[in-house]
Amino acid sequence: MSKRRKFYGVEAPDGEVVQVKDGKAARPTRPIIPFIDGDGIGPEISEATRRIINAAVTKCYGDTRSITWLTAYAGDAAVAKFGSPLPAETLEMLDYYGVGMKGPLGTPTGGGIRSLNVTMRQHFDWFSCVRPVRYFKGIVSVVKRPQDLDVVIFRENTEDVYAGIEFAAGSQGALEIIAVAKKYGHTIREDSGIGIKPISQYASRRIVRAAIEYAIDHGRKVVTLVHKGNIQKETEGAFLKWGLALAAEAFGDVMVSEDDLWKVHGGKLPEGKILLNHRIADATFYELLCKSTQFSVIATTNLNGDYISDAAAGQVGGLGIAPGSNIGANSAMFEATHGTAPDIAGKGISNPCSLTLSGVMMLEFIDWDEAAVCVTRAIEKTLRSKTATGDLARFMKKGNQVNTVQFADAVIANMVKPTRRTVEAAMKGRKAVTK
Ligand code: NAI
Repeated sequence: MSKRRKFYGVEAPDGEVVQVKDGKAARPTRPIIPFIDGDGIGPEISEATRRIINAAVTKCYGDTRSITWLTAYAGDAAVAKFGSPLPAETLEMLDYYGVGMKGPLGTPTGGGIRSLNVTMRQHFDWFSCVRPVRYFKGIVSVVKRPQDLDVVIFRENTEDVYAGIEFAAGSQGALEIIAVAKKYGHTIREDSGIGIKPISQYASRRIVRAAIEYAIDHGRKVVTLVHKGNIQKETEGAFLKWGLALAAEAFGDVMVSEDDLWKVHGGKLPEGKILLNHRIADATFYELLCKSTQFSVIATTNLNGDYISDAAAGQVGGLGIAPGSNIGANSAMFEATHGTAPDIAGKGISNPCSLTLSGVMMLEFIDWDEAAVCVTRAIEKTLRSKTATGDLARFMKKGNQVNTVQFADAVIANMVKPTRRTVEAAMKGRKAVTK
């Protein structure tokens, strides 16, 4: 379908709108993908990412397919051009095109504007934050067996303390809530700031459903619900209760509980079944490190998911390597999981892998598996040969430290068009987006 529209007063280029329905995209041929470069290191990793993806698309499809990248403004660039960090037209553009990519956006801590990322996730109801974490050979990790961790984290993206319902200490809202709490027998100090943590049955069920469907589609054998329900019974505990109920109702024929695994099946998971277990969040941090192989797919609430995905990324070699996506019913956004890295911004030394691998997730989402595998294989080869940006190379024995542009050049030079068999093998259990 070919459509044209004006954004920021400029006529959009010719190309396709990617149709997204029920969290799945129809395969396009010449999609237009809006791209928010982001702040700090955003522009340099965005440029590298587009170059790498364009090269893979050409390598795999010649001139029969192409992506037109469309600049979408948010963050510092939007303030400079339009006086607002998130212009309405940016939201309209993302809504119109359905599938987008973005670099990191800065958020002030304490006062100032609300996180643009959180604002967008809620605006578009991108309820499912999918973060696959795996090890790439060649990277030096702080743990002995980083290759043991291969987990896909489904983080609920719209609720929890991230809902942004906060009242400053001493404000009327805070004082009124303190008064209501008192009415119900709870004592809160008068000078407290108040944050509200909503966890709904609706959102809990849909993120657990997404995680289980992913496990079924990709041959993964364990889904772990992570929660802090021992302390926060009516929120985190309810998440667990609703998640288990959903699993029993909708997937009872496939899922095996940890209890039944031992009581009924003698500890051996029957062929074709998936283990559904649950862990308290603090224990999960310990087990991810010490019993890494026990995890495959995690479904969890927003804050737990945020912490766990960064810890898991650190385990396999750092934030610069872990990709992410935000999937909703009608649109999706693929973004680096790290921030703007202000300490190295503008130096041209940042690692583009997190954003580029998010681009791989985007390619998988639009069903361009050949290009996705082509990029992944080229990154694997580059890192295996110990060519990397400083964040990774400085830990490698005789690492070849390169800058962002040189790293992208090396990845492109390492590209090979994958065979059909390679693509099929690589996609088994790998695809990081629910299809
Ligand atoms: P950060 O992720 O920007 O940086 C943490 C550390 O990791 C720094 O040492 C940095 O140099 C390093 N690092 C991160 N990405 C790297 C890369 N690609 N290559 C090499 N090194 C990399 O976290 P920080 O400093 O807490 O946050 C900075 C800003 O980013 C804040 O305003 C924060 O709110 C924002 N942020 C935005 C996110 C997003 O847009 N999705 C996510 C996380 C933070």
